Amino acid sequence: MRLASILLLVFLFHVVPSYKILVFNPRFSQSITNFLGNIADTLVDAGHNVTTLTSIINPNLRDSTQKSTKIYVHQTEKVKKITASMNLEKADFFHYEDLNAFSGIPFGHSFTAWFNAQCEGVLDEPGLIERLRRHKFDVMIVENFETCGIGLSHVLKPKSLITTAGSVPMAQQGEDFGMDSALSYNPNPLITHVDVHSFWSRAWNLYATLAFRAMWYPTRTEMDALFRKRFGPTFPSVYVSFRDSFLEINVRNQLEHYTFINQEPLIDFATPLLSRTIFIGGIGAKEPKKLDKDLERIFSLRNNTVLISFGSIVQSHALPLQVKRNILKTVARFPEITFLWKYERPEDAFAKAAIAATPNLHMLKWTPQNHILAHKRLHAFITHGRMASTQETAVRGKPGLFIPFFVDQPRNSGMMERNGLGKVYHKRDLYDAEKFYTAVKDLIENESYHKNMERIATMIAAKPFSSRDQLVKTVEFAARFGPSPALRPQSFDMSWIEYYNLDIIAIVGVISTVAAIMALKITVYVIAQLSSVVKFKLE
Ligand SMILES: *[C@@H]1O[C@H](CO)[C@@H](O)[C@H](O)[C@H]1NC(C)=O
Ligand SMILES: *[C@@H]1O[C@H](CO)[C@@H](O)[C@H](O)[C@H]1NC(C)=O
Repeated sequence: MRLASILLLVFLFHVVPSYKILVFNPRFSQSITNFLGNIADTLVDAGHNVTTLTSIINPNLRDSTQKSTKIYVHQTEKVKKITASMNLEKADFFHYEDLNAFSGIPFGHSFTAWFNAQCEGVLDEPGLIERLRRHKFDVMIVENFETCGIGLSHVLKPKSLITTAGSVPMAQQGEDFGMDSALSYNPNPLITHVDVHSFWSRAWNLYATLAFRAMWYPTRTEMDALFRKRFGPTFPSVYVSFRDSFLEINVRNQLEHYTFINQEPLIDFATPLLSRTIFIGGIGAKEPKKLDKDLERIFSLRNNTVLISFGSIVQSHALPLQVKRNILKTVARFPEITFLWKYERPEDAFAKAAIAATPNLHMLKWTPQNHILAHKRLHAFITHGRMASTQETAVRGKPGLFIPFFVDQPRNSGMMERNGLGKVYHKRDLYDAEKFYTAVKDLIENESYHKNMERIATMIAAKPFSSRDQLVKTVEFAARFGPSPALRPQSFDMSWIEYYNLDIIAIVGVISTVAAIMALKITVYVIAQLSSVVKFKLE
């Protein structure tokens, strides 16, 4: 009897074996790299054997996994050249507009060339593919904006493939995941909000969707061309949208089991989902650490501190001088509050003069954002609104002034404003010093944002199913059973004519038109007959 209960206990507490997992981490955006790095580390903590294959596209970004086994593919010569020509350090992201197709499309194409050239490097890395194949991974986890990992999954053939989106699904990703894009009310990533009863607002959302797709479309075709050159013309596509009626190959999703999306529903717009899409937002917010002595000293100077950071791609030092001066003017008008500004060149002339003239301003090359946001004296955050930033502010309960620059930042900022967690501020309005001062004053003094944020932070902490549990249990399930055909939507096998029922609509349209014309003709004929009868009688 005792033996039975011991065996039962052993059974209950040790049923999950250690699985072999490969995470493909294309390093082109710090927040996406962090998201994938945290997925890897969380799975190691759960007892699994995780390998991270990092393909270094942007060498300026930091490593994000501490615990998994690491394999690197360094920048190829071609990628180095492309990186140099992009000149990201000095790029003018302030005047750049995604919604302007004339600047957006070339911008998307230069990123596409960058991604795809590095993917070629992954395929060329001596011995890599054979080495990975030998591991026979149970699960492979890949990013789905940069699609090299998806192509690679068809070469390595893990038992299950899990795709991810490091933010709201962008460009073609919604279709890849089989999600309905709900464009009449779901804002495109480039849009802060849709006024659902306004014709123009919905039309603008459709335009943004078309523009965004045009920007990123070449990633699809060029990546497919790369893999097909290596592995033959019938190699599966890296993308899924609608059935490719010429080639009849749309098997990418045969391996695919689940999709993890880095969104937190409690601060997002509510939109349709499939049961195989799982939100694991907040997984990127690591346990906060104690700050180092220098930062701790800065926090001790005044009761409240405000953090200003525009992330890793937009460089503060490269903002227009007038904009930097306006930020400075506002900082100087709140002498009782400390401002921490992530400014990559604190030694340049502007920074030196600013620091000398403004005692409550501190400029730092790099800020441990997640740990700073967790500090009890951190009062508010002025940010570009990357998904990671909006989630970290929500998890830590700090309101924000969200100044979107590009990609998904407008939508992220809009969802925060809609939930009363801060305000959207248009970057062009940074040219207006008084307007910026008013917005910062509202952020600092308006209690409503703090109250809403505290409530959201408490709710996120009390969620019935934590993002960590969702992640770990889903991966273990996928590793154990492989893909389940029931979870795969049939839309993947349809052409776009079938999906939108255009054939039915067309036929119903033709029949109704013919019927209407016939009815009209009959009516005209009957009236003509009747009037001739009436005429005849009158005569
Ligand atoms: C993890 O998997 C690799 C590759 O199969 C293997 O060489 C290694 O020994 C495993 N590590 C552990 C701790 O099981
Ligand atoms: C605080 O912000 C809310 C939301 O923007 C606004 O409705 C309210 O009027 C503001 N309160 C004050 C005192 O400005």
